[in-house]
Amino acid sequence: MSQIVNLRGGGVAFVLDMSGSTPVVVHWGADLGERVEWGLTDNPVPHSSLATGAKQHLLPQASSGWRGRPALEGHRAGGTAFSSSLVTTGSRHSADGGYEITMADAATGIELAIEIHLSEQGMLRLRSTVSNRADSNYCLVALTTPVPTGLGAAEVLDLTGRWCREQHPQRQPLRQGTWLREFRHGRTGHDSSLFTAVGSTGFNNRAGSVWATHFGFSGNHSTYVEQTPSGSALIGNAELFSPGEVTLAPGESYTTPWTYAVYSARGLDGVTQTFHRWLRSRSSHPRTARPVVLNTWEAVYFNHDLTSLRELAESAEKLGVERFVLDDGWFAHRRDDTAGLGDWFVDTDVWPGGLTELIREVRSRGMQFGLWVEPEMVNVDSDVIRSHPDWISGPGAGRTPVPWRNQQVIDLVNPEAWEYIFARIDALLTENDISYLKWDQNRDLTEMGHAGAPSAHEQTRAAYRLIDAVRRAHPTVEIESCSSGGARVDLGILERTDRVWASDCNDALERHTIQRWTEAVLPPELVGTHVGPTTAHTTARTHSLSFRAIVALFGHFGIEWDVRNLDEGEFAELAQAVALYKAHRGLIHSGTAVHADVTDPAHTLSGVVAEDGSEALFAFVSVATSFAELPGRVGFPGLNQQADYAVTVIFPTLSLPYRSVENVGWIPGGITVSGIFLAEVGLPMPILNPESGVLIRLVRV
Ligand code: GLA
Repeated sequence: MSQIVNLRGGGVAFVLDMSGSTPVVVHWGADLGERVEWGLTDNPVPHSSLATGAKQHLLPQASSGWRGRPALEGHRAGGTAFSSSLVTTGSRHSADGGYEITMADAATGIELAIEIHLSEQGMLRLRSTVSNRADSNYCLVALTTPVPTGLGAAEVLDLTGRWCREQHPQRQPLRQGTWLREFRHGRTGHDSSLFTAVGSTGFNNRAGSVWATHFGFSGNHSTYVEQTPSGSALIGNAELFSPGEVTLAPGESYTTPWTYAVYSARGLDGVTQTFHRWLRSRSSHPRTARPVVLNTWEAVYFNHDLTSLRELAESAEKLGVERFVLDDGWFAHRRDDTAGLGDWFVDTDVWPGGLTELIREVRSRGMQFGLWVEPEMVNVDSDVIRSHPDWISGPGAGRTPVPWRNQQVIDLVNPEAWEYIFARIDALLTENDISYLKWDQNRDLTEMGHAGAPSAHEQTRAAYRLIDAVRRAHPTVEIESCSSGGARVDLGILERTDRVWASDCNDALERHTIQRWTEAVLPPELVGTHVGPTTAHTTARTHSLSFRAIVALFGHFGIEWDVRNLDEGEFAELAQAVALYKAHRGLIHSGTAVHADVTDPAHTLSGVVAEDGSEALFAFVSVATSFAELPGRVGFPGLNQQADYAVTVIFPTLSLPYRSVENVGWIPGGITVSGIFLAEVGLPMPILNPESGVLIRLVRV
């Protein structure tokens, strides 16, 4: 008799057969309705194979015939308890809508609990807890909660990157074997993938089946897609430990971070919709209008002086900025990036009266004040390390890790170091009128150790505890997670922060791709996007202001540019962009993100459609010169096909990104067209200059 558990939500089902000694996954994919009576998980037993036959166990273990990566790896001294045979001991629907399964193996003294949640948006979340119930230590090697893919799985898509080029896609056929990504950065990592997806052949933005997972964790981790000769492909995510790093004493437990898993029958935009809807349903999700930011970094770098910063604040106010963020360079000894990290006292040489005067100026101009900090780091050239050389985290024996941007990691596992950092951040926030922290973290955590033992796991948790404590003490202060740009972008850090800085690259062309793929998981209100200088500081590419503004509009908009001496035209166009953002942020930060499948790789059309279909904002962008003479017609996805829409190009209006639109009938004055026409026939697009764009507004009539 099969005993079926049919979890349903958001058009998705996760179906388990609980009748055997261990849970078996029947299905993760489209909702099958209320009535699912069949497990049908038995497969024929091939010649020369294990007698159990192949099944998709929720917890893959060698003891139930799994010959791929086991979910649990660990042992006791001498290698005993190396393989558990965990069997179901209980299961129940929990009060918060989840489903919990407990498993145990009396022989090895191991217990395991798996928590499964399927939300009304279709978000599947899973995590496991392993507990040591015997009277000797258990050395945990790995614990994962993998999810299986379904019919038609054929291709693997994930993201990779580096500093200034985060979240770029890479795609390959799904083959037998393991596609393993390991991120040993002690932080999420510039090359870390916001998702690992398996999909049907040719799945794209708007079509195809996709099974995607995200791992909500900011430390060392691995993610893999595994296809054995006997089964469907599994996607797994796990924390990566150094040897001996997690040893469970009798009675102790370890809980994995959450694996987030999304199934879509409508391509990647379906995956995105579930992530966005679920994230927006969190009680901690930012609900106030995301203020226009001015960040001082690319405007003044380390050259802090009150007069210049006052001028910058004055220009910011005139442009309509709502939050002024003072970046790196304000604290003791910090005249460049070689010294000062850890000395979280205002530099009295540069700021004889403290930050008070600047803050007063900013506040009197109606803007919030934000401050940059990097609490997890120290320079060796700092008072704190001169007094506490042992606060540098490292492998022990007097050796410190290789420096990175002249900095080391403060050992937050040491309670004294943790308390010192907490006290400094707490004092800064108590003594000053600060409503925002840009919380940076600018190096990989290599060879993390506390008291000679590996500590990347504990350090990550200590950093989380630090942010949590700051939040508890100052609940109205918003926090941005920055990590040399986008090296700490994940749902673990976003449980305790309000936005991420996607990249240090403010080049609009690079940002266009970085943001498209960041947006695959994160809604735009959680992603900092700034208009940078005319010639980008990180690539030396020059772009029109309108292109930079269009790219920055689809996020939490800001400016990171010395706007003190703009010419009249630049000032007017930037002020126009700020006003556009204010007018449309309600839509951008609540609507459905859509990405058209445009055949010509030189163009993209992406946008946001209001949940009720009443309006939409699209950006048509040329990312390169085209092989074709014309961009041709491009279809607008995601609109209400039964409605008519008034379509207008609303930006730019001051400097046009094309030579002529004489024959593009709909552009100068706008046009009213049906949603179905816009989707199925599309509109003829203008010939844009390369690396430029137009903003198109659609309003239901
Ligand atoms: C990192 C951040 C930048 C800036 C600098 C300051 O690189 O990503 O945005 O804050 O640090 O040092």
